[in-house]
Amino acid sequence: MATDKLSSAGVLSPSVDAELLGCFVLGVPRSELAMLTLSDQPFPENKVGEYLLAVSRREKREPLQHITGIAPFRHLELQVGPGVFIPRPETEQLVQLAIEMIKDIQNPRVVDLCSGSGAIAIALATEIAGAEVYSVEASEQAFGFLERNYQKYGLDSRSAKNADLAEAFDELEGKLDLVISNPPYIPDAAVPIDLEVQLHEPSLALYGGEDGLDVIRRISSRALHLLKPSGLVLIEHSDSQALAISELLLTEGWLEVISSQDLAGKDRMISARKP
Ligand SMILES: C[S@@+](CC[C@H](N)C(=O)[O-])C[C@H]1O[C@@H](n2cnc3c(N)ncnc32)[C@H](O)[C@@H]1O
Repeated sequence: MATDKLSSAGVLSPSVDAELLGCFVLGVPRSELAMLTLSDQPFPENKVGEYLLAVSRREKREPLQHITGIAPFRHLELQVGPGVFIPRPETEQLVQLAIEMIKDIQNPRVVDLCSGSGAIAIALATEIAGAEVYSVEASEQAFGFLERNYQKYGLDSRSAKNADLAEAFDELEGKLDLVISNPPYIPDAAVPIDLEVQLHEPSLALYGGEDGLDVIRRISSRALHLLKPSGLVLIEHSDSQALAISELLLTEGWLEVISSQDLAGKDRMISARKP
């Protein structure tokens, strides 16, 4: 019944969402819900109202993660909600690529520009032993989530700044090994079709000016200041922007500009080395 309702409302994964909302309301993992269903246990009567409310919110295309308050990201469970971008699976791959790119550097120093919930920064700080990870996020609301996520994973939020990407960590200029970012990159006129994104993700997290590359241009010049000689930049982008970003980086003087693909084989990440 919940699946049918969500399907009629245009939700892309209605049965998974109906199941995950059940898990959320009952406070059980998916495996346990499956066991309850298999053993024909009825949904607890005192939880039905809460479940129907959650389903009706999802029917109105509120993101699943806003209803549960949690977004999984690699090994993390991050707090999210209105005002902060929900981390995406493709960004998990960006983190994986970053880990591979800096695996031979002892105690690497990294900054995550446009950090949102802190997903990239927290993943790197908790997955790379000895890494010194900094983050910068402009939105006050998003930064509130970032601070809570830092706290949850025992990270020092003094290494995070609520600031414009170009106005933080001047003291680190010339000292970093990697600048990583999943910035806003959608062209202003290309409003996303998904209602969850269109209505619930903050505009500051999505749009990057007329060609979508305004923030990426700024990341390129900021990264040249922040990195050591031979330091690396790694940026996520849309599948139609690889060529334009590669030209932009080469014009700015970057070396070894390399595009990398997502699991669907599309160019979604670009890296380069500072001379
Ligand atoms: C696409 S979201 C990505 C968030 C996070 N990195 C992730 O992958 O989940 C982009 C983020 O950049 C932030 N942002 C936009 N412009 C910025 C700027 N000039 N300086 C710092 N952060 C900025 C937005 O508020 C948003 O949180």
